Amino acid sequence: MDFLHLPSFASMRVLVFGFWVVTLFSEFAVGITRHYTFNIEYLNVTRLCHTRTILSVNGKFPGQPLVAREGDRVLVKVVNHVSNNVTIHWHGIRQITSGWADGPAYVTQCPIQSNQSYTYNFTITGQRGTLLWHAHISWLRATIYGPIIILPKHKDPYPFEKPHKEIPIIFGEWFNVDPEAVISQALQTGGGPNVSDAYTINGLPGPFYNCSSNKDTLKLKVKAGKTYLLRIINAALNEELFFSIANHTLIVVEADASYTKPFETHTILIAPGQTTNVLLKTKPKFPNATFLMAVKPYFTGRGTFDNSTAAAILEYTHPSHKPTPQNLPLLQPTLPPINATDFVTKFTAKFKSLGNDKFPSKVPKMVDKKFFFTVGLGTSPCPKNTTCQGPTNNTKFAASVNNISFALPNSLSLIQAYYSKRSNGVFKTDFPSVPINPFNYTGTPPNNTMVTNDTKLVVLNFNTSVQVVLQGTSILGAESHPLHLHGYDFFVVGQGFGNYDENKDPEKFNLVDPVQRNTAGVPPAGWIAIRFQADNPGVWFMHCHLDIHTSWGLKMAWLVLDGPEPNQKLQPPPSDLPKC
Ligand code: C2O
Repeated sequence: MDFLHLPSFASMRVLVFGFWVVTLFSEFAVGITRHYTFNIEYLNVTRLCHTRTILSVNGKFPGQPLVAREGDRVLVKVVNHVSNNVTIHWHGIRQITSGWADGPAYVTQCPIQSNQSYTYNFTITGQRGTLLWHAHISWLRATIYGPIIILPKHKDPYPFEKPHKEIPIIFGEWFNVDPEAVISQALQTGGGPNVSDAYTINGLPGPFYNCSSNKDTLKLKVKAGKTYLLRIINAALNEELFFSIANHTLIVVEADASYTKPFETHTILIAPGQTTNVLLKTKPKFPNATFLMAVKPYFTGRGTFDNSTAAAILEYTHPSHKPTPQNLPLLQPTLPPINATDFVTKFTAKFKSLGNDKFPSKVPKMVDKKFFFTVGLGTSPCPKNTTCQGPTNNTKFAASVNNISFALPNSLSLIQAYYSKRSNGVFKTDFPSVPINPFNYTGTPPNNTMVTNDTKLVVLNFNTSVQVVLQGTSILGAESHPLHLHGYDFFVVGQGFGNYDENKDPEKFNLVDPVQRNTAGVPPAGWIAIRFQADNPGVWFMHCHLDIHTSWGLKMAWLVLDGPEPNQKLQPPPSDLPKC
């Protein structure tokens, strides 16, 4: 499968060119400009005996890796050849002062309409590792997604053993029906969405599904006695996933494009939007076995979910170059149970930022502004003269932050409204910094679970240091929520179960080497405390990265004002910014 041959031929040419330029001007250590064209086009794909016409980038599924080096400028011309409106988000890219290139529809741009194009223009600063790109409108990211690979600057080594090979491993969700029909039906009836039919590894479900043939199983060929870097990405829509390889240990070295202190594990948990780089050391000798690599969900909520297992096979090449013997035993990994919150808590606690001289942990020690946001589910009323299939009598499912279910504008994006001083009637700036009606967030839920609908932002002065406690609620079930912040990495300084205690919990915060991420799970009926320095002006979306929760309103946005210096201001909008 050519997806595995990284970098692809086209990007290889860019890389070779890059080496040349960087060597020539090495004392300046400036990046180069990399050009990509992403054609949004139809593609027929068959999985589980169902052929669908999916939306793809350049006719590939999953999409091609976007490869660049730290310091490079990236220009991606996205051309829309399909009838749907499209945007692409470069998930985890900081987009310093280039918010127009971030991608969430109606937040930082109007969507690219049919037969139109838009060139995303951004520079990768201070980041290296794995991220992902994906569509950011409705549920189009179900099929429009691919890896982002940021190599360190030329001659900058990894802070770990140089791998023999680097392999992107990207998880997704396959639907036998059009996911756009699934979400539009769910929003109309107010009920939970139909779940996916399979998980996929590099687009392939593997052997555990009906009508999933051998050719729909990824075979990862490795040599004995080598170290591989697996760049693992969760691009699934709605499920956090466990991943394990039979009889092999993984060494975690990076998360969300920030290096971590290395640690060993047999299983990883990865939420949608997260990326985890692991080293895989293969057996010293040909092992006379093959090894299953399995993916299954972690689920704590109440609704239905896709409870299936995707799998790939790790195959050693035979040292004598003879064909690999047939009928080798296939060893299977043991994965934690579906709702293994214990495992998840221990696993997430192992992540620490590398925090050495070269990559210091820049966690804000003091905070200027503190926020306390509840995140969770709720209900909204059923429209008159209709029946709804929500959680309680004639209601619809909703989700909220501080009980506000966020409504996106549709005639202008938030950033355009801000920049052109036309925010009146588009958004308000009084997003509550604490819940308006406090309750026992993780106890017996209140009788009234109705959310309000609104478009409110938090305004931050440039360089404010911010702490946000994200408190999960038990309304309609305590569930884990992977929260994603655009435009920033944040530090996860604390986490716990039950209600956050303002008096006791801060004592236990890690202000030395907390993990730095762009997406972190709020534990079921628990909380996390995150900190970031608001040094990137623009409008930045924050939402649960389970798409169904985003659709239901578990989202909000920050408006970070310009700083005094020229390089601390949001750039002017590009001339080809799409119109609504
Ligand atoms: Cu990966 Cu706002 O999303």
